[in-house]
Amino acid sequence: MPYAYQHNTLHCEQVPLAEIAARVGTPCYVYSSADIVERFCAYDRAFGDMPHLVCYAVKANSNLSVLRLLAGEGAGFDIVSGGELFRVLQAGGDPRRVVFSGVGKTPEEIEYALSEGIYSFNAESEAEIELIDSLALRGGVRARVSLRVNPDVDAATHPYISTGLREHKFGIVIGAIEGMYQRAATLQGIILDGVSCHIGSQLLDTGPMLDAVDKMLELVDHLRGRGIEIRHLDLGGGLGIAYKPGEKAPAIGGVVAAITGKVRGRGLHVMVEPGRSIVGESGVLLTRVLYRKRTPRKEFVVVDAAMNDLLRPALYQSYHEILPVESAPRHTVLADVVGPICETGDFLARDRKISDVFPGDLLALLTAGAYGFVAASNYNSRPRAAEVMVEGGRWRVVRARETFEDLIRGE
Ligand code: LLP
Repeated sequence: MPYAYQHNTLHCEQVPLAEIAARVGTPCYVYSSADIVERFCAYDRAFGDMPHLVCYAVKANSNLSVLRLLAGEGAGFDIVSGGELFRVLQAGGDPRRVVFSGVGKTPEEIEYALSEGIYSFNAESEAEIELIDSLALRGGVRARVSLRVNPDVDAATHPYISTGLREHKFGIVIGAIEGMYQRAATLQGIILDGVSCHIGSQLLDTGPMLDAVDKMLELVDHLRGRGIEIRHLDLGGGLGIAYKPGEKAPAIGGVVAAITGKVRGRGLHVMVEPGRSIVGESGVLLTRVLYRKRTPRKEFVVVDAAMNDLLRPALYQSYHEILPVESAPRHTVLADVVGPICETGDFLARDRKISDVFPGDLLALLTAGAYGFVAASNYNSRPRAAEVMVEGGRWRVVRARETFEDLIRGE
């Protein structure tokens, strides 16, 4: 964990969070660069000499400074839109290390990706394969394509972020893959030589993930047995992180070792698409207490961050640990931590035992580095928060807080 108290005040690496809040204001996201690099390298190292590519899932946190940091470490990138490709290129990412996932790629996005020469597409339907083929032919190039398989594995996570069951919109049912390969063999615009899957996100139990690996390897063997050449195996992302005190997350090195143990010796180029497990723990959302409010039924701590800044609690009832930035010993209270937005769903924590804080005090919402800022909106005409990157004892703003003028741009 890059966050710890030093002299009773919470630090990110060597920087006191209170200093950042005083200079940049709140709400504000803070990221530890060391933690991001360390966790990317944990993936990369664990693959050892096996041919592999760790494609960071850009959707988890697409700040250019985060992408630049990872590009510098030789990361690949998993993108799901033209906008994400634009960001990767702006950050100096190598297009030849980019895989393009997603169930609804538009013709414009496919053309953009082809013209930039990305590594491969994870295709999710026959119609998409045909479209990629025709656009590649028109552009005079050949596109590498993997089929995204729906392995029908229950990821045992929140239903909104589980993706690998038959009833989900993602992937192609495993039984249809062979026929699709055979039909696509005649297409001249594509090189179809891979399979991919992604069963869900925030997986704390590696069982389903490894079951999916087994299913994918069975499929690879089956396809090869039919004379279909399979070179690439993309196993998606999904590894969970600890949000609650006492929650245990699988170690990156252990999970990758279990994967390589299964895949080794098959002559496959393996890819993974981790997002949350690289950036989640690196980030906090800093917020300031505005009011304390007691109703006959409840105690509320009203803060200046809201569901527009961090949507996860409202959308998934997800838990983010909340710590006071100054840790002078205090009582605890049972309270709801809520934002200023006019919705009952606007809460950051419910019935939470937290330090007895007062107006003006700073709080840090932990493990907010993934799916935090990227899902922020301007709801209630609230300018989006600033983002800060910490590096050792230094820090800098990597995205300025939006202004009122930003709110009306384009209207
Ligand atoms: N690859 C594909 C095809 C994906 O759909 C996703 C995540 C990933 C990789 C990265 O998964 P990760 O390693 O980050 O678990 N907003 C939700 C999470 C949505 C995940 C969507 N897909 C949340 O806040 O929990």
